[in-house]
Amino acid sequence: MIHVEPSGQACGASVTGIDLSKPLAPQDVADIRAAWLKHHVLAFPDQKMSDDDLERFTIAFGGFGDDPFIAPIPGRSHIIAVQRKADETAALFAENWHSDWSFQARPPAGTCLYGITIPPVGGDTLFANQHAALYAMPGEMRAKLEGKMAIHSAVKAYAPDGQYGARDTGRSMDIRPSADARKTQLHPLIRKHPETGREGLFSCFGYIIGIEGMPEEESTPLLLQLYQWQSREAFQYRHKWQPDMLLMWDNRSVLHAATGGYAGHDRVLHRTTIAASP
Ligand code: SIN
Repeated sequence: MIHVEPSGQACGASVTGIDLSKPLAPQDVADIRAAWLKHHVLAFPDQKMSDDDLERFTIAFGGFGDDPFIAPIPGRSHIIAVQRKADETAALFAENWHSDWSFQARPPAGTCLYGITIPPVGGDTLFANQHAALYAMPGEMRAKLEGKMAIHSAVKAYAPDGQYGARDTGRSMDIRPSADARKTQLHPLIRKHPETGREGLFSCFGYIIGIEGMPEEESTPLLLQLYQWQSREAFQYRHKWQPDMLLMWDNRSVLHAATGGYAGHDRVLHRTTIAASP
């Protein structure tokens, strides 16, 4: 039986009492899913996992999501490497708050990230609980967002002229910018979690480039105000990595952001995405 230890912060828990290098029993999957839906981010320390184990774990929670713009690692179709070399000078990957691939028609339910080479300092991943952010939001601010549809797009990040486009050099990650990044997709700014029914904010400025029917001069300051609110420290969990640690998070409940502070050290993690629930 798994043991779940909450982080004591706005979300996140550590899970022990399970060996993820072995196939999971249906009861284990049910227990982990329940803990995931409750705590939104689960860390499994001391797990010696191969890429096969990572894939098997991902499938158990809903199958593989579609990962655009980043090439998979050699020999795998559904694993990408989130990596940075000790002497790399490119801007940090994923440093802005976001919900993974929120610009898709059916954004992924979750993400799994497995720590392989973890620097001795820095490189924490931050999470912000978007149920908590919505519940604590002043009514006046909520009223401005209620019923609004956000326009999501990867344009600012993955278009050829975006952050990871032609001007992005010296990066060890295999990012493949594309004109496809200009496509847009609507999602409600406030929505119910598809499994728990709890209301939350979905995604943020970055992948949200506007609000349907609202002029840009009105939507941009509103989205920036929202971004500041939804990433406040009160809603955060700071995840500290160890080698052989698996992390799974719920993109429907949390935003996340990478942090630096490990110049001079390599960092390598393998990532899969869990597809949207049917
Ligand atoms: C990510 O957003 O997948 C990367 C997070 C990290 O590098 O800490």
